[in-house]
Amino acid sequence: MQVFIAADAAEAADKAADIVENVVRSRPRPRLGVATGSTMVGVYQSLVDRCQAGGLSFAETSIYLLDEYVGLDSNHPQAFRNVIRADLADLVDLRDDAVFGPDGSSPDLEAEAQRYEQLVTEACIDIQLLGIGSNGHIAFNEPGTSFEGLSSVVTLSERTRRDNARFFASIDDVPRQAITQGIGTILQARAILLVALGAHKARPICDALIGPVSIETPASAIRLHPDVSVVLDAEAASQLPAARSES
Ligand code: F6R
Repeated sequence: MQVFIAADAAEAADKAADIVENVVRSRPRPRLGVATGSTMVGVYQSLVDRCQAGGLSFAETSIYLLDEYVGLDSNHPQAFRNVIRADLADLVDLRDDAVFGPDGSSPDLEAEAQRYEQLVTEACIDIQLLGIGSNGHIAFNEPGTSFEGLSSVVTLSERTRRDNARFFASIDDVPRQAITQGIGTILQARAILLVALGAHKARPICDALIGPVSIETPASAIRLHPDVSVVLDAEAASQLPAARSES
């Protein structure tokens, strides 16, 4: 595992974008696994800037969402498919049909999760971007989730709903369920890039990187993968022993 500690969020976003750019440049038909959430906004902005400056093309790239809320209208701005279009896909030269995600409004959610699992597995993700929840979740795999789990319909923890309430008018509007890639699905990616920013991520990062590898901290599962990069800002790294002794 390679851990990069950036001075601030902007430097971390650029470092993460460098890692993604490297994959996009080196694969003939790159397949990116994409997360949504605040952490990724700067990473996508950095990639958009590179594309708009003419140095980077996504014309051959396909992107696959990690997860999607259940029950939001397909036009809802917080549906992850719409978030990724607004933050990345519509701002670069990705093909219109190169954005994939689970359909959270499917009448048969379990079948939809299985369909998406098969799609992601067949795609062979080159690099999977991950954020980390304040409870250590990755995608919507909450504490207690098996590391072997595949894509499924899950119930969001109250903590995750509270954390995500900032994107909605009120907590009552935050969906209670999602379709998420499983930890087993995520670990099939060729490479993993975890990004964490801010002091509120210091504890879950510490648990994930140096605590026990345990289903109580879903993000600790990345330590079972052979090709992992972790990009942190100084605040998110502040409880790691090396970062503490340097400060
Ligand atoms: C989003 C996702 C989540 C987020 C995590 C961190 O697709 O899967 O696991 O990555 O909740 O969210 P932010 O970046 O908003 O702190």
